[in-house]
Amino acid sequence: MDELRLKIFRFDPDTDQEPRYQSYKVLAGPSERILDCLNRIKWEQDGTLSYRMSCGHGVCGSDAMKINGRCALACQKLVKDYGGGEIVLEPLPTFRVIKDLIVDLDPFFEKVNEVRPYLISSDPPKEKERRQSQEDSRRVSEAIRCILCACCTAACPVVAENERYLGPAPLVWAFRYIFDSRDEQTVERLKGVDHPDGVWGCVNYFECTRVCPKEIPVTKCINTIKREIEKGKTKNRNNHENTKQ
Ligand code: SF4
Ligand code: SF4
Ligand code: FES
Repeated sequence: MDELRLKIFRFDPDTDQEPRYQSYKVLAGPSERILDCLNRIKWEQDGTLSYRMSCGHGVCGSDAMKINGRCALACQKLVKDYGGGEIVLEPLPTFRVIKDLIVDLDPFFEKVNEVRPYLISSDPPKEKERRQSQEDSRRVSEAIRCILCACCTAACPVVAENERYLGPAPLVWAFRYIFDSRDEQTVERLKGVDHPDGVWGCVNYFECTRVCPKEIPVTKCINTIKREIEKGKTKNRNNHENTKQ
């Protein structure tokens, strides 16, 4: 085990005028997770340190934070990923800090809800579940991995500039249902994101794709929706031309 220094963002809006950074020393092996280090600090040195965690295995998405400047899950990153020395932990950017590494994700989930992140179908399932072919399921198999950790949204430079922009994670959920063969609201869903603060807000910085801990090709999903919208518009234009002739 080596001694590691963690410099952690601290801020309690109820008592502190300004945020500050506090340094802690912990003994940690190279294959231990950053989350293990945080737990060791909280359990053995400073019980006031606040952060979220639950599953510890990259499933719940609750321990998303900025680690050495990049949004990531503390349970997925190992000490050796940072080559020793000092590791800086900060809350996810663009969100309001509730305490230390905990941010207010309500605005994030409100935007996810805007895209109606659930299957809409008037048909009752023919069997116990609504089945789809392997080919259809493959179309959404990457997007389905989203754990709503908010890393992508926090890393997106457009979100930082424009709080109305829907952001990458809600657009991944829009994609997931637009291209689900069992959903009946494709046209409405496409219309719902066809505006400057929807898919057209994305300017292809790819930051979302770079940070996604589930390796979802976020930007590709957004661009696929854009193409689908354009395809619909071209089809409508052609139909209109044909009826005029
Ligand atoms: S690709 Fe689009 S959504 Fe992703 S970070 Fe860039 S602007 Fe944001
Ligand atoms: S798309 Fe990736 S980074 Fe964004 S919320 Fe989902 S899992 Fe997290
Ligand atoms: S604690 Fe659940 S994803 Fe890290």
